[in-house]
Amino acid sequence: MSLQDQVIADFTQRFGASPDIVVRAPGRVNLIGEHTDYNEGFVMPLAIDRHTWIALRPRTDGTVFLHSMDHDESCTFDLEQLNKDKGWQEYPKSVAWALQDAGYPLTGWEGTTICDVPLGAGLSSSASYELAVAKAFAEVSGFPWDAPKMALISQLAENQWVGVNCGIMDQMISAVGQADHAVLIDCRSLDATPLPLPSGTSVVILDTATRRGLVDSAYNERRQQCEEAAAFFGVKMLRDVAMDQFAARAGELSDVTRRRARHVISENARTVAAAAAMKQGDAVALGRLMNESHDSLRDDFEVTNEELNVIVERSRNVEGCLGARMTGAGFGGCAVALVQTDHADAFVTAVTAAYHDGTGLRPSAYVCQASDGASVVTR
Ligand code: GLA
Repeated sequence: MSLQDQVIADFTQRFGASPDIVVRAPGRVNLIGEHTDYNEGFVMPLAIDRHTWIALRPRTDGTVFLHSMDHDESCTFDLEQLNKDKGWQEYPKSVAWALQDAGYPLTGWEGTTICDVPLGAGLSSSASYELAVAKAFAEVSGFPWDAPKMALISQLAENQWVGVNCGIMDQMISAVGQADHAVLIDCRSLDATPLPLPSGTSVVILDTATRRGLVDSAYNERRQQCEEAAAFFGVKMLRDVAMDQFAARAGELSDVTRRRARHVISENARTVAAAAAMKQGDAVALGRLMNESHDSLRDDFEVTNEELNVIVERSRNVEGCLGARMTGAGFGGCAVALVQTDHADAFVTAVTAAYHDGTGLRPSAYVCQASDGASVVTR
């Protein structure tokens, strides 16, 4: 049974009628532009064909009741009295808080949710949850859907309520994704330009099956190092430093700060170059830039782990692979490869075996389809 059918069946059994509304919002994989979003730079993710689904109907008493099929648990909260707690229910609550904080009057609702974005894998299950909840509120409360604004509100929810200091990439792509396209996002202006994937290529997600704790502290440390480097150059964000400006004064920076800044500045340039390559349908150039991105994340930004390096190296040796890199925050989780479509199935089989040989771990690898951002499926 599809997730859509499952969520509708659960709703119908639980509430004794079909849902009025079904919404969904996708997770994401980032093709290139890593650790650039919080430097107000460029990213180029795609929304994937894995989603958080919510089937729902409005309520008149100002409360939200939500059953999570994944956790086999329900939660209820009063929109006029939101209190911080721990657990999955903080995601819907945080979005309710942030929407009200931004001045949206909210109507309550009841529903059921299911998600097939793997948790903790770096594919943005949280952003997909947040955007699905925002979409649910937009539908029942009747306010217009402004995708970048909803992304910002969801980011605020995650930063301020959940307490994770993420950038804007994940929420933006979950809001503005487009089927068959990656989206170049300018994280300063929030301009989003959908770009078709080069013809004859497929995007493969490679989950190393490694998860690392303490990602948050390592992530915050990188953010701080970037801020220090920006301050050194007298600019607000590293987005404002060009490579030649950096090169002229790089010798004055400490080794670590120099390498962190070099990653961000070169990654921004690579992402812009990757968008140009996509416009020309140049899959070879795009793949090369993805390879360079990984090497920079490994050597300069130091956010890969051994398993990510192994899966990327093994991928690059398989026929049909145009480029491979880690994706997301790093330290574990997933890599992404751009592969010639005729070789995609054989690629998945070969990398799975090669990675198992190299690490003893079993990855999960699959060809993904770029999908649309948060949407109403039935109403
Ligand atoms: C995580 C964050 C994003 C972004 C990436 C790294 O996914 O949520 O905002 O910073 O890491 O590119």
